[in-house]
Amino acid sequence: KKEISIGLLGLGTVGEGVAKILHQHQQDLRHKLGAEAAIKKVLIKNRKKERMAVLDPAVFTTDIDEILNDSSLDIIVEVMGGIEGAKEAIEKALKAGKQVVTANKDVMAEFGPELLKLADEQKCDLFYEASVAGGVPIIRTLEDGLASDRITSLMGIVNGTTNFILTKMKKENMTYEAALAEATRLGYAEADPSADVDGLDAARKMVILSSLAFSTVVHLDDVLVRGMKEIRDGDLELAEKFGYTMKMVGSSKKNDEGIEVAVEPIFLPDSHPLAAVNNEFNAVYIHGDAVGETMLYGPGAGSLPTATSVVSDIIAACRNLQLGVNGKRAHAAQHERVIKPDNS
Ligand code: HSE
Repeated sequence: KKEISIGLLGLGTVGEGVAKILHQHQQDLRHKLGAEAAIKKVLIKNRKKERMAVLDPAVFTTDIDEILNDSSLDIIVEVMGGIEGAKEAIEKALKAGKQVVTANKDVMAEFGPELLKLADEQKCDLFYEASVAGGVPIIRTLEDGLASDRITSLMGIVNGTTNFILTKMKKENMTYEAALAEATRLGYAEADPSADVDGLDAARKMVILSSLAFSTVVHLDDVLVRGMKEIRDGDLELAEKFGYTMKMVGSSKKNDEGIEVAVEPIFLPDSHPLAAVNNEFNAVYIHGDAVGETMLYGPGAGSLPTATSVVSDIIAACRNLQLGVNGKRAHAAQHERVIKPDNS
């Protein structure tokens, strides 16, 4: 194929970043793919809103079916967010035999195994690198880079908004409200930021990471979630005084009983590598039997970093299309017991 046609569902923070990268890196991508990756249709909510100069207004539509029923499209990129509508769109696209790329952690945390199975059955790919830790290639690392190892535990700062808030409160004495407003302005926070501050967004990401790390299916209900409300006045100062830093940390560990996953604010010693992860940055600290300790670090939220992962998935989907192969994302085997940690 000389041209790969893309249907983009959504033109919000991430969608705009995807369009920008595809445009700005056009030449490099042409060399990498041996083909042109072209956005042919874009789902938008409102035609009146001013639109990006890099996109021809002729590609815009407010009708999702116009995209999902378009047989000329090769790849559907779901960056519209939400759960039900997005899940349905992914399903329809897979059933129509399309390659699918999504950044949707909410959908992947809840319906990932089901959708990956469908992709398998349809001999299509479903890539979701951008669903966790924005521009950090953690999904690929767990699937490929560390495939040889037996992971024993994983600790992560996987929510950019709460990390940004905690950093600003500690280092710039900002109030919680002002820091949250700034994170929202910068496009880090969820449409409903309670998903960030109450730990749900991080819990969803830990579901995705834990399922991959331990080749099992972890459910959101299995995760112990404690949000920022658990942090009391004075906790941040107290931590600092004794050489600790307060961070919202997701942890997932395997012991003799099974897998335990939690998200909660914890005091990390300043010497811990995760204590130095600031602002909207994310990091995942992994312990494996053979590799020992390793950490991935990078921007966890924001338009271009998140779009980087989406576009890398588009490249992977294009390559598979060109090679006529698929199924890189076969669904996880379910062989580990998952136990909800004690709430005490
Ligand atoms: N609201 C999310 C965060 C966006 O702050 O990490 C990236 O998933």
